[in-house]
Amino acid sequence: MAELVGAITMSHGSSMISQPEKVTACVREQVFAAMKQARDALVTMEPDALIFVGTDHFNTFFIDDMPKFCIGTGTTFPGWADNIPFYEVHGSHQAAEQLAEAVGPTVNTMGGMRLDHSFFGPLHYLTPQMDLPVLPIFQNCIAEPMPSLSESHDFGRSLRTAIDRISQWNRLVLVGSGGLSHWIGGPEHSRVSSDFDQAFLSAFTSGNLNDYQKMSSSDLELSAGNGGHEIRNWLTVRAAAPEFGVEVLIYRPIREWLVGFSAAILRP
Ligand SMILES: [Fe+2]
Repeated sequence: MAELVGAITMSHGSSMISQPEKVTACVREQVFAAMKQARDALVTMEPDALIFVGTDHFNTFFIDDMPKFCIGTGTTFPGWADNIPFYEVHGSHQAAEQLAEAVGPTVNTMGGMRLDHSFFGPLHYLTPQMDLPVLPIFQNCIAEPMPSLSESHDFGRSLRTAIDRISQWNRLVLVGSGGLSHWIGGPEHSRVSSDFDQAFLSAFTSGNLNDYQKMSSSDLELSAGNGGHEIRNWLTVRAAAPEFGVEVLIYRPIREWLVGFSAAILRP
């Protein structure tokens, strides 16, 4: 039986890695200091593996075949370059199958799942040697049919029960990647809503996410942009660890990197 010993939530953006010079040195230092804090926290949690809830940006999944949830059951997961270094990370077929079976029919599985910067963006900072096994879970945050926010929350609860049943590893850390608000493409490209993000982080910290669970996808997109759909991954992580304490490491609206950037650590 595995134990969830911590969780980390983090925004992602490929330009953070490929174009760090787009922001001032002051912003860079703040962001990278927060990433180091997250990495240091991960080391102290001493995980055997990461359960990683990320998404995709039309690299691995396209609108002709877009599951709501998909667990990667392969043993090796290569990346798409996405303007970041090419990475590859190892998983466990056995543990992924155990997890998929325990979660039930709400999830699809895929053996040869490639991962884009939603996964390798945070991993670039958290495990730069790519030496920690990763069990990747795609959550559709990009195109309909996306899970409702309520389904994303419920998925987190199922995930926690399922994680507890994994026998392959003892100590697991759950990671959620995405958000916060950001508008990509279209007339409002690069917009970020600090008001939305601050309110969400406050609710995320307290654990009272009822208003977000009830929010429709269209209302979320109006308030947080098309990139804001990725707060689903934060919602899933918080639902999986409702009893954990939250430490928000940073929040900055960073239009140059096209993201309302935040990172948080969750501990029992
Ligand atoms: Fe994204």
